[in-house]
Amino acid sequence: MQTSSTPLIVSKIACIGAGYVGGPTMTVIANKCHDIQVVIYDMNQHRIDEWNSDHLPIYEPGLEELVFERRGKNLHFTTDYAQVVDADIIFLSVNTPTKYYGVGKGRAADLKYIESCARQLRDTIKSGRKIIVEKSTVPIRTSIAVKRILESGDSQAQFDILSNPEFLAEGTAISDLNAPDRVLIGGESDYAIQALSSVYARWVPKENIITTNLWSSELSKLVANCMLAQRISSMNAISALCEKTGADVQQVSYAVGKDTRIGAKFLQASVGFGGSCFQKDILNLVYLAEHYNLPEVAKYFYGIIEINDYQRDRFAKKVIHKLFNTVSNKKICILGFAFKKNTSDTRESSTIYICKSLLEERAQICIYDPKVTENQMRYDLKSLMNDSYGGDFSAISETSPESELVSKNVKVFSDPYEAMADAHAILVLTEWDEFKTYDYQRVFDSMKKPANLFDGRNILDREQLEQIGFEVYQIGKQEKNLADW
Ligand code: UDX
Ligand code: ADP
Repeated sequence: MQTSSTPLIVSKIACIGAGYVGGPTMTVIANKCHDIQVVIYDMNQHRIDEWNSDHLPIYEPGLEELVFERRGKNLHFTTDYAQVVDADIIFLSVNTPTKYYGVGKGRAADLKYIESCARQLRDTIKSGRKIIVEKSTVPIRTSIAVKRILESGDSQAQFDILSNPEFLAEGTAISDLNAPDRVLIGGESDYAIQALSSVYARWVPKENIITTNLWSSELSKLVANCMLAQRISSMNAISALCEKTGADVQQVSYAVGKDTRIGAKFLQASVGFGGSCFQKDILNLVYLAEHYNLPEVAKYFYGIIEINDYQRDRFAKKVIHKLFNTVSNKKICILGFAFKKNTSDTRESSTIYICKSLLEERAQICIYDPKVTENQMRYDLKSLMNDSYGGDFSAISETSPESELVSKNVKVFSDPYEAMADAHAILVLTEWDEFKTYDYQRVFDSMKKPANLFDGRNILDREQLEQIGFEVYQIGKQEKNLADW
């Protein structure tokens, strides 16, 4: 540890990257610290314009109110890089997607955005002392790379690098930020750790602010996400066994989670986990293990992904099988495109993968989601269908057979009842609360018979639906006629 100099009184914080992480995190800091000027910079003008408008670029419960409260006071969204350089603390909150090319393709995190941020900082900050905080999820040892870039030029500035991983979950970002289980700060410089801790200490109890070395901090983030995903994959694996044996996965989950050593959270079987973090972080860990020649470790964690893929595929196959082994030209209504409720984010949503399987079987897909835009849905489906998901969308041809299939066979609705009318089957793929409130008698009357309902989130009242006349499948629950399966 370096010896600390005069403690820094933080008066300005900047964040590079106005996304799902940077936007909410900085908004909460601005709300908690009125005396600190908070600037969020992004190179994407459109995104910044949206942050400065009445329609924010991301949906997150409670976010809008907080932004409107502090915007123009101590919270600023800008494309003017000059606003970044005079901040005391600069957060890096840019995207770190899985690489889709070259060495580590499909495994390693692509650090090109982080790297370009570091180069820009090096080239623009020539003097003084700056605290650079890694907020994006990154593979361990990234901070060394950032440090080496920052120190590689002719800058006289002193840079202190901290890792401060984000544990917020989308949909609950504001409450997670307001009352975090812990804030983790990794670094070597006492001066920097104290400065960042003093910001969080305005609202987070001191005992919940954990300080570690850089490597522990970076690795802890990956491990936390792997373990959360592992719990879900365990229940998803067991859901398949439940369907064969007649056990009920929700009962098993409840009974298992009651053990305080295990706990109840993240044990809900589903159509498979999605989101921008879980898969990426597991792949990061797998890549690291392979890199350090630890194949058993890599294989152990890769199993979490394999079960997730299996669960998505199993669900799609079940739909096809139940619809008499063909969905060709059958109208299938998809309820929910976001990867979880209360977010407009679709990254790695299981819906995209399930739709792909059904489109390949030539189903007519009708989608309703309360928050996801039609453009986003078509973008995701075309990317995956053309094997370019997470890759270069500009390389996709609008006239490829896969793109044409999406254009012709996918309809998007703003009214759920219209999306469900005349359908052979409804698939509930996101757990939006409003799906529980629909008039299912009205839905049933408007559907083709037999009316099939596949509840991929186990949120609907099965008994009531069966009384209406639906044929219901729920994850990890025995079918009415087990022999059918
Ligand atoms: C996750 C971590 O929770 C968060 O700490 C980290 O900072 C970022 O990654 P997020 O991806 O926003 O957050 O969502 P999360 O709530 O973890 O859900 C991930 C996926 O798992 C969703 O698709 C969700 O529907 C699914 N899930 C979650 C289940 O299938 N079952 C569960 O029991 C819980
Ligand atoms: P996350 O979920 O990690 O917040 P997002 O994709 O939602 O990821 O947001 C990342 C943001 O970072 C995007 O708005 C992108 O434009 C921005 N970004 C990426 N690289 C840079 C950069 N070098 N300078 C400024 N902004 C960047």
